[in-house]
Amino acid sequence: MKRVLSSMVITGSMLLGSSVATVAWAQEMDMPAPDADKGEELYTNGDSDRGIISCASCHGDAGNSTMSDNPSLAGMPHEYISKQLLDFVPQEGHDKAARLGEGGADSVMAPFAAALEEEDRANLAYYLATQTLDADNAPAATDEDTMERGQEIWRGGIADRKVPACAACHGASGEGIPGEFPRLAGQFPEYISQQLKLFRSADRDNSDMMHDIADRMSDSDIAAVADYAAGLR
Ligand code: HEC
Ligand code: HEC
Repeated sequence: MKRVLSSMVITGSMLLGSSVATVAWAQEMDMPAPDADKGEELYTNGDSDRGIISCASCHGDAGNSTMSDNPSLAGMPHEYISKQLLDFVPQEGHDKAARLGEGGADSVMAPFAAALEEEDRANLAYYLATQTLDADNAPAATDEDTMERGQEIWRGGIADRKVPACAACHGASGEGIPGEFPRLAGQFPEYISQQLKLFRSADRDNSDMMHDIADRMSDSDIAAVADYAAGLR
């Protein structure tokens, strides 16, 4: 809980990213400060010697994806990005990755994530956290019929099933919170609902918090809140 509270205090606008927090964090971790230029270079061009293809070819220029299969990454908390890059790969003492795809298959990300070193993860995460969501071209909500239900869940949760308000952790306007809570505003609704279903089935087994939440949601709750969240700015 201490971590949650301290990240609440440094809440800023998603557009500002979390660069200040990043440098302090590197000092705390006794690591070289992350290098955004190196992050940008690897993100844009990949590294063919290591079998890493350009991240931009799937996730778009500066983390603004134009393909609904591939999430937008611009302005996500750097801690969240680094964590995901680790979670796509089995960690010591585990025979499978904490974050898998449907039916327990390896994520598309597994081979790229496995080729990254700690320094790459820090540089990539720092670069992406300091990019700006292209709000005008990002996905918006499209389903009029579920808008109200989506907003209800976002702001107030589902009381009779003890689902908490999404806004409490992901921010009132879905901007995320530096530290650990990812941005959902402007994300593809297809991606948001896919991830909620993966949390529910525990194929994505990297957050007890999100598993417990998704486990209490029906497909129609998920569709409504995913569409609503995508449209937030
Ligand atoms: C072939 C397309 C492709 C390439 C190349 C690719 N990604 Fe991904 N990435 C995906 C897909 C698809 C997902 C969703 C994966 C899932 O849910 O299992 C994803 C998910 C992610 C996530 C988690 C996002 C979130 O919101 O949780 C991060 C972080 C990420 N990719 C970073 C990178 C980086 C950094 C690179 C380059 C080193 C890269 N990706 C290369 C397709 C790609
Ligand atoms: C108690 C805090 C909390 C609440 C409440 C919460 N979330 Fe989350 N959510 C998280 C955390 C932490 C993560 C990151 C998990 C990880 O490490 O991968 C996350 C991740 C997600 C992701 C994955 C994002 C991505 O880029 O892959 C989605 C989608 C999501 N939450 C949707 C929701 C929705 C919808 C609600 C409301 C029904 C909700 N969350 C409520 C804490 C919360």
